[in-house]
Amino acid sequence: MTDTTATRTLERTWLDATLPVEERIDLLMAQMTLAEKVGQTHQVANIDPDADADEIAAGRISSSLYASGPTGGNERDEGVLVGNIDAAQRHAVEGSRLGIPLLFGRDVIHGHRTVCPIPLGIAASFDPDVAEEIGEIAAREAVVDGVAWTFAPMVDISEEPRWGRVAESLGETPVLSGRLAAGLVRGFQGDDPSEPERLAACAKHFAGYGLSAGGRDYDTVSVGENTLRNLHLRPFKWAVDAGVTTVMAAFNDVDGTPMHAHEHLLRDVLRGEWGFDGMVVADWNGIGQLVNAGVAADLREAAVLAIRAGVDLDMCGGAYLAHLEELVESGEVELALVDDAVRRVLRLKFRLGLFERPYAAQPGAPNAPTPETREVALRSGQAAHVLVKNDGVLPLDASAGSSGSAGSAGSVLLSGAFVDDGDALLGTWVLDGRGEEVVTPGAALRERLGDRLTVADGRFSDVTLMQARAAETSVLLLGEHRSRSGEAQSVVDIGLPPGQIEVLRAVAALGKPLVAVVYTGRPLDLSEVLDLADAVLVVWHPGSEAGNALASVLLGEVEPHGRLPMTFPLSTGHIPTSTHQRPTGRLIRADVDHKEGRYIDALTYPRLPFGFGLSYTSVEYGAPVVSSSTLPVGGSVTLTVTVTNTGDRPCREVVQLYFRDPVAEVTRPLVELTDWALVDLEPGQAREVTFDVDAEQTAYAGRDLTTRVDEGEIVLLTGPDAARLQSVSIQVRNDS
Ligand code: NOJ
Repeated sequence: MTDTTATRTLERTWLDATLPVEERIDLLMAQMTLAEKVGQTHQVANIDPDADADEIAAGRISSSLYASGPTGGNERDEGVLVGNIDAAQRHAVEGSRLGIPLLFGRDVIHGHRTVCPIPLGIAASFDPDVAEEIGEIAAREAVVDGVAWTFAPMVDISEEPRWGRVAESLGETPVLSGRLAAGLVRGFQGDDPSEPERLAACAKHFAGYGLSAGGRDYDTVSVGENTLRNLHLRPFKWAVDAGVTTVMAAFNDVDGTPMHAHEHLLRDVLRGEWGFDGMVVADWNGIGQLVNAGVAADLREAAVLAIRAGVDLDMCGGAYLAHLEELVESGEVELALVDDAVRRVLRLKFRLGLFERPYAAQPGAPNAPTPETREVALRSGQAAHVLVKNDGVLPLDASAGSSGSAGSAGSVLLSGAFVDDGDALLGTWVLDGRGEEVVTPGAALRERLGDRLTVADGRFSDVTLMQARAAETSVLLLGEHRSRSGEAQSVVDIGLPPGQIEVLRAVAALGKPLVAVVYTGRPLDLSEVLDLADAVLVVWHPGSEAGNALASVLLGEVEPHGRLPMTFPLSTGHIPTSTHQRPTGRLIRADVDHKEGRYIDALTYPRLPFGFGLSYTSVEYGAPVVSSSTLPVGGSVTLTVTVTNTGDRPCREVVQLYFRDPVAEVTRPLVELTDWALVDLEPGQAREVTFDVDAEQTAYAGRDLTTRVDEGEIVLLTGPDAARLQSVSIQVRNDS
């Protein structure tokens, strides 16, 4: 129970917001008992202001996961407590001895009430400003519910479409993932996370989670530190440099050491080399799972491993709360380790301004989608649409036969999965968005096409075929329901979900114009779709404005400009396929001999390369030209490429710059994305696009794992995607 005498007599000097944060932490920690310190390392799921009142007041709870909503009763929505988080906060602030506020975290991943595209769709925009806007509106809506901390962005790099969590990733390359992560961090946190409409962000899952064996979620990871440094750690570094305030440990092991016990990566690299002074949170019961992983005999030993490794906050595992106090008293864990963790937790609470503003910013304020937030959802949804085939059927003619009806000129049949299923299109990790607030494809196209549109219900039947025969064009919605990708949603086959290919074949057999729209959280095997349909759009899960985004692209109100942030393999058997394949001693010269490959029963090129996407016009690329053929270490050169819109519609071209390091200390990727530019072109317009290239962009971890920039040749390559590139060579020189 609350020690009221102490509460009255203790002067809370740390509440002086004019003092530097580190001094405030010192003042507070000087007053804390060991038990209170341990309490600051403990997070619970769904804090309950009634049931947990005594524990909160005793200072034994630091943070809550999931609970949301400042006011109202203790409603339980699918097991998640909503409402009353201000009541829980009051127990902490007014009822506990030290008044340390609780920290409320919740997964606000690609929107809160207003839902934007899944992160893989955000990555398809290639636009960090879009990412920033999404983070910003999500934060603004989430703080209304008292949320102060989100578990995003996820920056796990993966070349494994079987792994369901690629939906939540920002694509397969470090620079794209890193820049978009930085955009999201800026959006969530702003310049100062203590501003009332900002959240703390969390770069997760540190590290290597995208390499889970066989794409099976939570599986083991076998990777060397060189590959980790040259690929998987880089987006985390980007997020840290962007000021991310928290990092989450990954469920997986790295070459035998579970990340929740990985002292080297969490302490030496993250804190030591990178200077990260924020908080490391466990993933859900990640500390407890050290026992399942067979590296700790029991929860007590797990607590020892995790606190030594540098996990500061125990997410819902209870290991720290149960054992840390006794472990310090028995001398098995140094107090300094606990102090370090507590300092990081408190630093976050001070940085968030929780001591000044512990309660929800505007309790009870509405946070349903507004025209302004819908506009962000629409624009980001459109930017995520990737046109991967078009034989001229798109854009649909918006005006043709406008007074007509089904069967007449310009008539369209909309059919397949998700026509009027808003919830299916919200995407993974949506806790607050509502299916009924989604503009469905059916609704958006009905509004635009009136009686030119026939909508067949999702169940395929002979009636659907008759309707398809009667219509001039069929638009078939294919792909995954949102519940088929995301955490724990791995598949062994990246083909379309059961039953869909048969529908596609039957409609295609009619020989009429056919547009396939693919909703998905992962790269799918689209080979047959690409063969059978006249146009194919990959649109991920677009969120609240799914229908308007699709209709506007189909009808040419906006030009499609998304690009694939992951390679689409030829088949499941070809996984992994990505841009960061490294050369081997036996090169595959597909350009010379198309029969060559690594399999006896198939070739090995990607079905759709990284960076690929079409517009409704055609764009030609000139050869890249450099300002100098030598690039001094510490200096830069410019590379210029002329792009020309040779068609009769405007476009937004994603001009991409890659490089290859032909001779290095370790094997380096065949091509690696290093920069890009979004370039708007009017019909017939030519523009020179200039990139600054500095030698640091070619840096990599060598054999001794330190970062190095080599002298010698670097090949720079520009083009519209990773498979259509023109090159120019420069020499890196160290003149110093
Ligand atoms: C487990 C997931 O791996 C992580 O990404 C998520 O943030 C936590 N659960 C909390 O929901």
